[in-house]
Amino acid sequence: MLEMRGITKRFPGVLASDNVDFDVFPGEVHTLLGENGAGKSTLMKILYGLYEADEGEVRLHGEPLSIKNPTDAITHGIGMIHQHFMLVPPLTVAENVALGLKSSRGVLTDLDAVSERIVELGETYGLHVDPSAPIWQMAVGEQQRVEIIKALYREAKLLILDEPTAVLTPQEVDQLFVTLRQLKDDGCGLIFISHKLHEVLALSTRITVLRHGKVTGSVPVEGATRESLAQMMVGRAVKLAPDKTEAKPGNVALKIRGLRVARDRGGDGVRDLDLDVHAGEILGVAGVSGNGQMLLAEAIAGLRAPSAGSIEIAGTEVVGMTPKQVRTTGLAYVPEKRMKDGAIGDFTVSENILLIDHNDEHYLNHGLFDFGAIKKHSRQLVDEYTVKTPTLDTPARNLSGGNIQKMIIARELSGTPEVLVAAQPTRGVDIGAAEYIHTRLIKQRDEDTAILMISEDLDEVFGVSDRVAVMYEGQVMGIVDPRTATREEVGLMMAGVEQDETA
Ligand SMILES: Nc1ncnc2c1ncn2[C@@H]1O[C@H](COP(=O)(O)OP(=O)(O)OP(=O)(O)O)[C@@H](O)[C@H]1O
Ligand SMILES: [Mg+2]
Repeated sequence: MLEMRGITKRFPGVLASDNVDFDVFPGEVHTLLGENGAGKSTLMKILYGLYEADEGEVRLHGEPLSIKNPTDAITHGIGMIHQHFMLVPPLTVAENVALGLKSSRGVLTDLDAVSERIVELGETYGLHVDPSAPIWQMAVGEQQRVEIIKALYREAKLLILDEPTAVLTPQEVDQLFVTLRQLKDDGCGLIFISHKLHEVLALSTRITVLRHGKVTGSVPVEGATRESLAQMMVGRAVKLAPDKTEAKPGNVALKIRGLRVARDRGGDGVRDLDLDVHAGEILGVAGVSGNGQMLLAEAIAGLRAPSAGSIEIAGTEVVGMTPKQVRTTGLAYVPEKRMKDGAIGDFTVSENILLIDHNDEHYLNHGLFDFGAIKKHSRQLVDEYTVKTPTLDTPARNLSGGNIQKMIIARELSGTPEVLVAAQPTRGVDIGAAEYIHTRLIKQRDEDTAILMISEDLDEVFGVSDRVAVMYEGQVMGIVDPRTATREEVGLMMAGVEQDETA
């Protein structure tokens, strides 16, 4: 149904698409795989009319097509589910779906018809949502269902899914895959992007690998393995589990007692939580998202005021401090909401790296910025963490999703913090970068930082942590040893099932 031929797209200093050929048959899931910055999103944005290709041709059902904007794409039955949702929070599901539709009748009568069709689509594809519910009340998984319904409502036959699973819980991923398989069986063409190789293997019919904007290979899913895909992507073998030695835990560096944190929508999201993290250990926090992990992280970072309890970092009580003050006690923080709490899009890469220590005497010279020292430091981090950017003066928003994450990680791991709180540290980064980040976390641990790592990725939790705390409904359900615990055990605790202490 789709043929993209010889697509080339240049950005200042980057060849993002380099003579790419890509096609999709009806009834297939064609996956685009590649390292951060390889050009996956760019190619899809060209197809959806968000970017214009410098060269190349797009054909749909054999007809040459000129897609100048998303409206053209939608008219031709192309839908795109973005990683950052484009819904309007105060509006209901039905209003969001109706938004932008040409209407011949009154808006109100139309909304009823829209709601009816939403329910119908929901039943056909297992996309259950309440048409009258406002978006702001919904979990991300539900919002994504609305995005898919919105595309299907517009009769999309070719669906682009750019990292749709990055923000979903494993249960939500399973549900999404049921829907996607059904769409495939109904003859839709799907383009899927994900850094999680087990997802790619579970869903795809075909996999095309991009490197530096070029197609380096295309294989059917039969016969592909995680190892072979990793090799194709990175051009070398990648260790899928990090090497690590036994932790040598020291004193308690992060001490939390009786912590209560309220949710935005009311009620306590963290309830009487006690937790100790020792210097020189990685405490992994597993749990289905929404069980208070993000509130916990934000409370530690001073971004959210607890309603009760205490948090000590290296012996200093930090409750009541501003985020900046908390940092001075020795906290480094990798936030889950990257663009909101972790980076400033309009600032350059170099400025973003400097954000946390712009008062540091190393970068000041008689009260003025020492740009030479700043550049040197940024250059070193960008190289070490392979942050792909044309220059240090490129605005952060022009970086690919995974490279923004790598930039934040590089900055936060660059000092010698007493405590590091890292939420979803490898979300959206490619496997080569994930391997490096894991190695660095372990190295930081061996330099005696106490690390609290919040992750929904059980492979990561089991592979990197020295102890695993499972959170459920704002409390720690239990702490297990990842060397002896099983995934089933942790899975049950994540679902709130108490474990026998003696087991
Ligand atoms: N609007 C833009 N302006 C300048 N450069 C851009 C722009 N959009 C993308 N790029 C650059 O193009 C290259 C490809 O980026 P793209 O977002 O397509 O990567 P990706 O494969 O989707 O990576 P990721 O896995 O991190 O999402 C990167 O080097 C990126 O910095
Ligand atoms: Mg991308």
